[in-house]
Amino acid sequence: IRTQVGIIGAGPAGLTLAHWLKQQGIESVIIEHRSREYVQARVRAGLLEQNTVDILKDLGLAGRLVREGHTHHGVYLSFDGERIRVPFDQHTGGRHITIYGQQEVVKDLTDAWLSAGETILFEAPARQIAAFDTNQPKIYFEQEGEEGVIACDFVAACDGFHGIGRKTLPTNTYNEYSITYPFSWLGILANVAPSSDELIYAYHERGFALHSLRSSTVSRLYIQVENDDHVDNWSDDQIWEELSVRLGTPGWELKSGPIFEKSITPMRSYLIDNMQAGRLFLAGDAAHIVPPTGGKGLNLAIADVKHLVDGFVDYYRHNSCRGLEQYTQTALRRIWRAQDFSNFMTTLFHKQAEHGSFQYRLQRAKFDYIRMSDAYAATIAENYVGLPFDAFT
Ligand code: FAD
Ligand code: DHB
Repeated sequence: IRTQVGIIGAGPAGLTLAHWLKQQGIESVIIEHRSREYVQARVRAGLLEQNTVDILKDLGLAGRLVREGHTHHGVYLSFDGERIRVPFDQHTGGRHITIYGQQEVVKDLTDAWLSAGETILFEAPARQIAAFDTNQPKIYFEQEGEEGVIACDFVAACDGFHGIGRKTLPTNTYNEYSITYPFSWLGILANVAPSSDELIYAYHERGFALHSLRSSTVSRLYIQVENDDHVDNWSDDQIWEELSVRLGTPGWELKSGPIFEKSITPMRSYLIDNMQAGRLFLAGDAAHIVPPTGGKGLNLAIADVKHLVDGFVDYYRHNSCRGLEQYTQTALRRIWRAQDFSNFMTTLFHKQAEHGSFQYRLQRAKFDYIRMSDAYAATIAENYVGLPFDAFT
């Protein structure tokens, strides 16, 4: 197989990259380790920033997203049962977020790509990225027991945290930064109408909780649990009880319903400060992970893709390597911003120390300050909806 850009991974980053390159007249082929069914069933994020939605609209990929997604113009924050709302419009000049499941995005982008006659090789794990220090890099992969090879001008490793892109990057080209948090999220999907018109992030003496949704009939909720906890330790009733206590505020009731998905996600902040070597480029979770509080992971992956596309367009259309050479530096500015915001939201709303401790009082002081200060509320709002691309130039 011969193409211009060989893309490893059919997650949000790889699929968006492929579509965007095509719009710019640049061809690519995607290989994906897992089956189409597996990738589309994987339940993950749900919060799309304005930037992400604008990009998908621009690529003509937002038809169903616009019809079925829920736009939110504010978010509720709760602390010890006291709930406040941070409105976006007045703090961000009218920017907002859209709630639409990541696997729906992946479905839409996959369907559009395949029905345009383009290629995704499923169940085709990349095994080796070779000769990326020459202008003829190759991706060796496996499919149905046979070895295949993609010869390309560039390799885009959009292969997530466990992919081979980062492992291939020479270790002497980057520094690694990471935090592992002493708690995880138990996330559920349930067949019940959302109990709130907007998301609720809550600190409670018993730990963090988040109320989100997927549609008018499906709710998505999370609670903080111990790192060594297991879904089997939690009955449906216990989960609803815990959610109801942690999210609770006077005069409000959490509706419960049948839970049809339960999983535990560890919390990690991670990044490497170099995302390229020769003709190999990393984008998305391949290069960085943020803890999910604040919903930045997927959006950061799409932002990387924007900068990578800018670089490829410079190269193929304007005969310049400048954008590609500066890719890491450009992407890192937003990545560090998102790392800071995700860490901020995580430490503000999770139980990390004894209720009433110094750490708790700092969290409480921050919460009180959000209510007191428009300036503080505005920093939360503008980070939460996502800073525009030109804010970083
Ligand atoms: P991925 O979506 O991981 O896609 C990478 C793809 O590459 C996968 O399909 C993988 O199968 C494929 N691949 C890997 N190795 C190879 C190989 N060798 N060859 C070929 N293909 C390969 N973010 C939020 O904002 N909110 C959340 O609530 C949230 N929850 C999450 C829960 C979980 C369990 C996980 C893992 C992540 C969660 N995230 C969340 C983060 C968000 O989902 C990711 O940031 C997003 O998926 C990143 O997209 P990506 O395309 O970079 O990587
Ligand atoms: C969702 C996940 C998040 O991590 C978040 O901050 C907001 C929403 C969600 O899955 O809907």
